[in-house]
Amino acid sequence: MKKEQTRLAFSSCVKNLATSKETEILVDNVNDMSAASEGCHLAAYNFDMYKSDRSKKPVMEFELMDKSSKTDWEDGFIMADCQNLARTLMEMPSNMLTPEKFVEEVVNVFEEFKNDPKVKLEIHIRDEDWLREQNMNALLAVAQGSVQKPRLLELHLSHPDADKSIQPLVFVGKGVTFDTGGISIKPSAKMGLMRGDMGGAACVAATALGVMRLNVPGRIICLMGLVENMPSGNACKPGDVVFSRSGLSIEIDNTDAEGRLVLADVLDYSQTFQPSAVLDAATLTGAMTVALGGAFTGAFCSTNKLFDMLRKSGAVTGDQVWRMPLATLYNDMVKDSLLADVTNSTKQKEAGSCTAAAFLSQFVKCDQWAHLDIASVMENTNHVKYMPNGMSGRPTRTLIQFCKQYFPEIK
Ligand code: BES
Ligand code: ZN
Ligand code: ZN
Repeated sequence: MKKEQTRLAFSSCVKNLATSKETEILVDNVNDMSAASEGCHLAAYNFDMYKSDRSKKPVMEFELMDKSSKTDWEDGFIMADCQNLARTLMEMPSNMLTPEKFVEEVVNVFEEFKNDPKVKLEIHIRDEDWLREQNMNALLAVAQGSVQKPRLLELHLSHPDADKSIQPLVFVGKGVTFDTGGISIKPSAKMGLMRGDMGGAACVAATALGVMRLNVPGRIICLMGLVENMPSGNACKPGDVVFSRSGLSIEIDNTDAEGRLVLADVLDYSQTFQPSAVLDAATLTGAMTVALGGAFTGAFCSTNKLFDMLRKSGAVTGDQVWRMPLATLYNDMVKDSLLADVTNSTKQKEAGSCTAAAFLSQFVKCDQWAHLDIASVMENTNHVKYMPNGMSGRPTRTLIQFCKQYFPEIK
């Protein structure tokens, strides 16, 4: 059986067993126990944190018939469990998961690995004063409309056996804990989904966890820009101009195009680590759903090599990426501003995902860069048959798989 079929087959067993209230499940062996485990653990996930009857619900326990496949089963479990962490963070409502709370939740998850000899872990929590010292004025402009204070969360992971000649891989995540649109306010229908606008940050944190738990022998740094986008007397307004960390001035033509403002500063900061590659993940544009729907994450890559690695990773996990273009025409559209060097919303409204990527590219210096627009896969609405509907946590498994390929095992 192919991996994706295995995931599907095992997920339907789990679904059926859940209705029959079966809790102890004996699992027979198949050729890919890692995929089987992913199917089971992704299907069994259910977000019921705030339901009062949750303790009464039976928890499924899996037992293997053939213990020799324990390692594969466990690897698949870790992959699914990390994606499930991203799902939980994305589902959590914005009153429960403010930027400060996001930091607390993620730090708690990592706490138990602090004394693990197999990994060197460093955590930095940057507050508003630090952001100001760094001149992260684009990120701060988004945050200024909210009473919730912004944060930048940094996770630095380094395996003791990591090849020091390979510079770190840096992940950047959009962490807008709620996106109202700001003064350019969104319509209220489905606005509640914007609690998942920190999906990029969630996937990036979950990837770091996977890399650590699976002992991937590399060095990675995750940078998560955390803000809430609100309209208020303090909020930034269309037509405002800010000087970003890079020195480029930005016209904020639309306060709902806030993700790219946050990423502009964090991407610029990412370069201080002399990365070998930078990957950002962001629920950036609604246009991504128009282009690709829930089938793929849109991958804007500066090199064929980087895209190829992402494509291969997606083929393994089944959570696939589709290449999207970076082009001069889009760059020109972004630079067409009367007020500043660049605008966060172009005059022509076509190709919204491509102009967003072009905007980000103005702040990237590393020649190996990939921007993943995950807006289209933020919510599962029957796209992935082995997961119940809701916030998807995609493409966490693909990013972990990417790291496995990027830092090959030390033999
Ligand atoms: N967070 C949204 C994008 C989004 C929409 C993610 C739907 C997931 C589902 C983003 O901040 C946004 O509002 N983008 C605007 C940009 C526009 C104003 C240039 C959009 O896509 O409409
Ligand atoms: Zn927005
Ligand atoms: Zn947004």
